[in-house]
Amino acid sequence: MSLLEIRDLHVTYGNGAAAVRGVDLTLAPGRKLGMAGESGCGKSTLAMALLRLLPSSATMTGSVLLDGEDVLGMRWGRLRAVRWAGASIVFQGAMHSLNAVHRVGDQLAEPILLHGLAGPDDARARARELLEQVGLPAARADAYPHELSGGQRQRVMIAMALACAPELIVADEPTTALDVMIQAQILRLLDRLVTDRGISLLMISHDLAVLADTCDRLAVMYAGRVVEEGPARQVHAAARHPYGRALSAAFPRVGDPASRRAPRGLPGDPPDPSALPPGCAFHPRCPVAIGVCAVDDQRLREAGPEHRAACVHADLLPRSTA
Ligand SMILES: Nc1ncnc2c1ncn2[C@@H]1O[C@H](COP(=O)(O)OP(=O)(O)O)[C@@H](O)[C@H]1O
Ligand code: SF4
Ligand SMILES: [Mg+2]
Repeated sequence: MSLLEIRDLHVTYGNGAAAVRGVDLTLAPGRKLGMAGESGCGKSTLAMALLRLLPSSATMTGSVLLDGEDVLGMRWGRLRAVRWAGASIVFQGAMHSLNAVHRVGDQLAEPILLHGLAGPDDARARARELLEQVGLPAARADAYPHELSGGQRQRVMIAMALACAPELIVADEPTTALDVMIQAQILRLLDRLVTDRGISLLMISHDLAVLADTCDRLAVMYAGRVVEEGPARQVHAAARHPYGRALSAAFPRVGDPASRRAPRGLPGDPPDPSALPPGCAFHPRCPVAIGVCAVDDQRLREAGPEHRAACVHADLLPRSTA
């Protein structure tokens, strides 16, 4: 059975922005799924929807099954139990997620205490162990967030995500704010920790090369939809959707600082989700659009073994020219 099964998920914000538009994805226990796409394509909205962390102005439909139980239908008490212990999230800006006036050790102990997994002394000891597991000295438990570097704070966030031994970690651009060397270290650390513990990982990044290196499967999001999904290395090396190809071309190598800009050879920006173009939402930017693209909406279809793409050309594009 899948650990995570997202079915026809839609999220619309109060201003009419259709940020997620019918996403279906599955993640098996212990597997790693990468999600790529430019800024504004709905990745964070999707991540937050998984644990119902969206603002109250957002409307959600569809289902998010975690271990077979629908998160969208959970009562608050059950949802609180599932957050941290069933699934946890690492966000981009650790400084905003940590409380400035509490020592990091106390913040790490808090979810352990809240979930009744240990008493105060054991929770504090566990917090120190967790710090060591993420490569920080146990004594840093006494530090306040501002006494740590950006990379150290992000390590604390990873420790926090691991604190209640969840089955799933969602990492939303966990290293984007950090410099390139530190990014690589932290991604390797996260990868090792989830692999050792058999935790499933949904890793979000705009950098397709990083995801291809870390994940088993890769999903590419554009304008609130998954437009391509398949084996990670195959999506990176031989994307079947023109947008997937543009992203692959933009991120040829892992951690290349020069490729943190918009995809090369792809002018323009993703559409405003409150004013989506008709037909295929990518058509105004697509180098291989044809007449029907401005009229017909495309849904995911087979584009190779275990590989799907939402493009009129999905089964026609030559496979070798990534
Ligand atoms: N609270 C909000 N209210 C209205 N629109 C929002 C809100 N949060 C995000 N959006 C819009 O939803 C779209 C998707 O945003 P987001 O999920 O953050 O994308 P990504 O993580 O891929 O950059 C963007 O157009 C963004 O402006
Ligand atoms: S359906 Fe048409 S516009 Fe959309 S990605 Fe394919 S070719 Fe381009
Ligand atoms: Mg985001």
